[in-house]
Amino acid sequence: MSNIAVLGAVWGDEGKGRIVHDFSKDYDWIIRFNGGANAGHTIYRDGKKYVHNLLPSIDWRSPRPKAYLGAGMVIDLDKLLDEAVKAEADFPGAAKRIYVDKNAFIVEEKHKEADKAQNAHIGSTNRGIGPAYADKISRRGTRVSDLIVTDLIVTEFFHDPCDTSIIKKLSNLGVNFVDLLTIKKDMVKADLLYEGAQGVLLDINHGIYPYVSSSDCTVGGIYASGFAFAPPTQVYGVFKCYTTKVGEGPFPTEIFDEEATKLRELGKEYGATTGRARRIGWLDLPALKYACEVSGITHLIITKLDIVAGMDIIPVCTKYDKPVVSPNNFFSAKPLYTDFSCWKSVERKANGTEAPNFELEILDFLETIEKYTQRKMEYVSCGTEPQDIINLSTITSVHT
Ligand code: IMP
Ligand code: MG
Repeated sequence: MSNIAVLGAVWGDEGKGRIVHDFSKDYDWIIRFNGGANAGHTIYRDGKKYVHNLLPSIDWRSPRPKAYLGAGMVIDLDKLLDEAVKAEADFPGAAKRIYVDKNAFIVEEKHKEADKAQNAHIGSTNRGIGPAYADKISRRGTRVSDLIVTDLIVTEFFHDPCDTSIIKKLSNLGVNFVDLLTIKKDMVKADLLYEGAQGVLLDINHGIYPYVSSSDCTVGGIYASGFAFAPPTQVYGVFKCYTTKVGEGPFPTEIFDEEATKLRELGKEYGATTGRARRIGWLDLPALKYACEVSGITHLIITKLDIVAGMDIIPVCTKYDKPVVSPNNFFSAKPLYTDFSCWKSVERKANGTEAPNFELEILDFLETIEKYTQRKMEYVSCGTEPQDIINLSTITSVHT
């Protein structure tokens, strides 16, 4: 095995959570490195729905993986307590498998209030992310380690001290607060899975600024969190066969008609964190290619093939009227479409005694994406069950 990363390739909500959940049993550490409780990773275990906002999308039923919340994160400790308590209730011993980097930054109540007051025009999730990162970069505010020293020192150094008792509650439950270097000796021998939050087009440096989140959503965030000693050898970019976005900002392939409503309902396209109806559009290859180029994505995973099955055609944006070399290009891009014949279903047909096969329409669609992005498609997801995540090497090659 080797270390891998799973990133949102577009605007988040591509289905990373369930991919990571399914993969997690084969890894020792599942590591979040960016963002905070703005993420909403929906996963199902034994028919029960769980939304992880801060915890990685770890499958607690497997004894192997441990969860790490990295230095690049901004953490709302009340929310973490809530998620840890729920995990411990359903999976006794889970809390002991949660490790929080002492360099991570704390999201305080005032950050959430400031978010509501200042960031409605971006469509912020109001989880305090932007204001917390602003304080962090301005070198004011509180890190996890600041709450672990004595209350006396906290009061002396910080004008607005946080409640340190929350750390005690988390510790009593079993949650570990650690320095990365003390864990490094275990990690260098282990298999690591880095779980991105949000998506490349929401990245603070390379996303469609200012309609972005405030963290490093690309592979860069992994290094910024201190993991240069264990880089990912494969970086998976996850995207849907159509596109969604929550919040404001340019969305070149957005659609507004009945088809949008239908896809929203079929795909259950409502925000896991905020419940907002997601904006809907077609797959946007120039945007996907841009994301691959700026984020370190080496391989692709496409999701939700089942949602569009049965449509006559599936339009795909295969060109803009201008090349995309800067996030600014997205503000005025005019998408040009190619219509693909859609597949009737995603049931895999038996191919003699060989591996199962997909309808040719699916293979055509996947091959076009591979050629355009110059990235290999490695998995497709076409349903909500673990067996619906299919490794394409088990299917007739899309390169034939
Ligand atoms: P913030 O991260 O709450 O500051 O929100 C900034 C922008 O990123 C808004 O448009 C949000 O809707 C969007 N956003 C933040 N987190 C996610 C996510 O996990 N999935 C999808 N969009 C997100
Ligand atoms: Mg989400």
